[in-house]
Amino acid sequence: MNRLKIREILSRPSQGMPVDVCGWVRSRRESKGIAFIALSDGSCQDTLQLVIPEGSAAFPRLRGCNTGAAVRASGYLRESPGKGQSFEMEVSAMEVFGDADPVTYPLQKKGHTLEFLREIGHLRPRTNTYGAVFRIRNLLARAVHEFFQGRGFVWVHTPIITASDCEGAGDLFSVTTLDHENPPRHEGRIDFSKDFFGARSYLTVSGQLEAEFLSMALGDVYTFGPTFRAENSNTSRHLAEFWMIEPEMAFADLQDDMALAEDFFRFLCRTVAEQGEHELAFLEKQYKTISIAGIRGLGDKPFVRITYTDAVRELGKAAGKFEFPVEWGLDLQSEHERYLTDTVFCGPVIVTDYPRDIKAFYMRLNEDGRTVAAMDVLVPRIGEIMGGSQREERLEVLESRMRAAAISGGSLEWYVDLRRFGSAPHAGFGLGFERLVQYITGMPNIRDVIPCPRAPLSIRF
Ligand code: 4AD
Ligand code: MG
Repeated sequence: MNRLKIREILSRPSQGMPVDVCGWVRSRRESKGIAFIALSDGSCQDTLQLVIPEGSAAFPRLRGCNTGAAVRASGYLRESPGKGQSFEMEVSAMEVFGDADPVTYPLQKKGHTLEFLREIGHLRPRTNTYGAVFRIRNLLARAVHEFFQGRGFVWVHTPIITASDCEGAGDLFSVTTLDHENPPRHEGRIDFSKDFFGARSYLTVSGQLEAEFLSMALGDVYTFGPTFRAENSNTSRHLAEFWMIEPEMAFADLQDDMALAEDFFRFLCRTVAEQGEHELAFLEKQYKTISIAGIRGLGDKPFVRITYTDAVRELGKAAGKFEFPVEWGLDLQSEHERYLTDTVFCGPVIVTDYPRDIKAFYMRLNEDGRTVAAMDVLVPRIGEIMGGSQREERLEVLESRMRAAAISGGSLEWYVDLRRFGSAPHAGFGLGFERLVQYITGMPNIRDVIPCPRAPLSIRF
């Protein structure tokens, strides 16, 4: 089919330009013997107005062409005398591929809640809101690669099925082909040596450990792929399946890591403000949770940096405001994170040097022996959007941290090896891609920024 996309048509329209277009009918109305159709093909935020006069050969086709129908139209572009668009299309021929029954098609004109739309996940991409969100998501994914490729980072593909628990938090999904009804047993326990891989295996929670060995050869690398966590967190910022971007830099410390995180985030904000202007303008007007000016402004704003110890002191001043206690040694809850970003500093904040005991075993122990070279980047509305650290590169220190965390060396012997052979300072972080998309689009729930959200007790598609 020799069709033009609406995005192409509207980016260089001209009077009399012949046009062949395909798409879905968003709405249809008739006035003074002329039919008007708003057509969307998903290529951009705008619809194309089709004009079909009563006498036209295309007019009889309108009987089987309701909201939601898929059509092809041929005709000419002309300057529009009406309001809301500068060009419209005069249709001379039309073909209806598939109609949508006006009684049962759920997306009639407007006014559906996001909750309702979540229940029709296979149709919601046809709405203005989700079209905008998924195009922004695409734009950000492209910008991620642009940023790292522009800096000479190598994109590495770490495994989805893995034998190791990177974060040590125990929220792993098992991967197995054993018979659930009757698994093989050995001395009373399930015998995983008979399983597909001959050992226990899981869906990855992070590509970091594998990215580390690649960075110890290729220098600067990054991953961009799906990760899985069986956390039972039914919140507006947790998914059981989410995408993560994890850069890892050789010969780098925590300062380099923070500088990279900040440059990266600011690049993404600038790029999306420039290239996603129409989508962001729609979301800004519709939901009023974001502003393009605010996103553009983030592209220049330096992040506040504060140590965990100072953050706890700051939060202590407002202790009465919180549900959860604030005390040195306890992890920050999202109410604390949001208080720092939304009330104290009014912008992104990097919290560094967390207590050793609340962070993962691989983070580099600081001189004080109590804290580690960790950083969390917090942003307004969302809280933690990135988490990273300088990695422990000293063999004895790493081994003692692993013993303390009761991690058996066996399955991670290869990881320890990296400290035996040419160990070097290195650092990296993980950016939760859906949290980023959520932050940029202003969607209140993370389930609205991924086509098929995975959360406890819910699986469709
Ligand atoms: O802080 P996390 O757990 O860090 C890591 O996984 C490290 N291995 C990263 C690294 O240093 N290479 O996760 C990183 C980010 C979080 O800051 C958050 O944005 C996102 O991943 N994230 C989630 N996003 C959605 N749903 C969840 N359940 C998430 N858990 C973490
Ligand atoms: Mg974290």
